[in-house]
Amino acid sequence: PFILSIAGGGSTYTPGIVKSLMVRLEDFPLAEIRLYDIDEARQNTIAPVVEKVIRDHSQSIKFTVTSDAQTAFRGAHFVFAQMRVGQYKMREQDEKIPLRHGVVGQETCGPGGLAYGLRTILPMVELIDLVERYADKKAWIVNYSNPAAIVAEGVRRLRPNARVLNICDMPVAAMRNMGAILGADRHKLEVDYFGLNHFGWFTKVRVDGEDRLPELREHVARFGLLTEDAAQTDPQHSDPSWVKTWRNIKPIMDHFPDFLPNPYLQYYLMPNDIVAHQNADYTRANEVMDGREKKLFAAAAEYQRTGILPDAYHVGVHGAFIVDVACSLAFDLRQRHLVIVENKGAIANLPYDAMVEVPAYITSEGPEPVRMGAVPLFHQTLLMQQLASEQLLVEATIEGSYEKALQAFTLNRTVPTMQHAKAILDEMIEANRDYWPAL
Ligand code: G6P
Ligand code: MN
Repeated sequence: PFILSIAGGGSTYTPGIVKSLMVRLEDFPLAEIRLYDIDEARQNTIAPVVEKVIRDHSQSIKFTVTSDAQTAFRGAHFVFAQMRVGQYKMREQDEKIPLRHGVVGQETCGPGGLAYGLRTILPMVELIDLVERYADKKAWIVNYSNPAAIVAEGVRRLRPNARVLNICDMPVAAMRNMGAILGADRHKLEVDYFGLNHFGWFTKVRVDGEDRLPELREHVARFGLLTEDAAQTDPQHSDPSWVKTWRNIKPIMDHFPDFLPNPYLQYYLMPNDIVAHQNADYTRANEVMDGREKKLFAAAAEYQRTGILPDAYHVGVHGAFIVDVACSLAFDLRQRHLVIVENKGAIANLPYDAMVEVPAYITSEGPEPVRMGAVPLFHQTLLMQQLASEQLLVEATIEGSYEKALQAFTLNRTVPTMQHAKAILDEMIEANRDYWPAL
């Protein structure tokens, strides 16, 4: 049985991930779960909920809650990482500062994502070093930490040999919705997909070997990437703002009816529409703080008071996916999953060393990407521009370079002019004083 550490243990996602682990104990046996967080108070609030989730399924799994890295990682076989540097208060800034300049305010797309990247790359590398110091030499870090594309590139640059697999639940969430639309279990879908994280396209959606993409495209052009009545099987992406996000890819389908875009492409291809409908005073960070966060903290308090735990955490693809990936790593299952990997020719006309998102077979020695071939000029060009923006941001972080940060902001498609880029960057430097390296 494995020792598993969750870095970012105080996250509101932790109970859902642990629930997913509990229903898969036969596939992924556990001796111990350790929660690790640098925010001790927050983690201590969440921990009793997590312990209850464990005890409902197992009396024998040891449960440890710590802020000490050695205690957290000593001898660990797996680390699930989900850090949020600066927490939701800084997400709010990532979203609101660009909006004040008429630019998309989003946690991973546009200037917000770049700012979040500048906060996260170095702490992520610190975490990797701690894990390498204390954990089992064969330990895998499965990393959900955002902004995943930039974090993956930063890790490749700074710790190229680390046993880190960067993942995102957006493709699998899209596949959950596709399954609902097609009336097929999402596990039966086999997709082809190319791009960067939060920036890519599905090119094939096979069910029992038959490509159902044409049918899916017709549906999406009418209703968005949702069932007709917007019903979903997973509460994680069901808030009204998420329903809007799934629906919003309809216009992209109208203009470019090729492939099936990751919904996040709406921020890059129609930023004007997005900004026009965003409330600059109340963004997604506010919704999450007032919604998901409050709900779980209230449930934790009620559980402490009454011993009864209200159902206040998400169990869905987010938790299920990271457990699937861990199983495949642990037992060399070679399952096919969409993950973030070094390109190495998988997308023929993108750089060999780019961190791309493609299907890969997950072996015990890591992902083996599947060749997606060459992509059309239009998509290649969009991808190259986004890649350059993200790579310059990583270099800005490593070198402490203002100039490269400005270039990264300027090259991002969400940012209309260099003046916008500079004004937003300068405000962000102020807001991130406690987090960014000096530029
Ligand atoms: C999707 C993305 C994640 C992102 C999350 C935000 O799951 O893949 O990268 O963090 O959405 O969701 P939220 O509910 O926090 O806005
Ligand atoms: Mn993601």
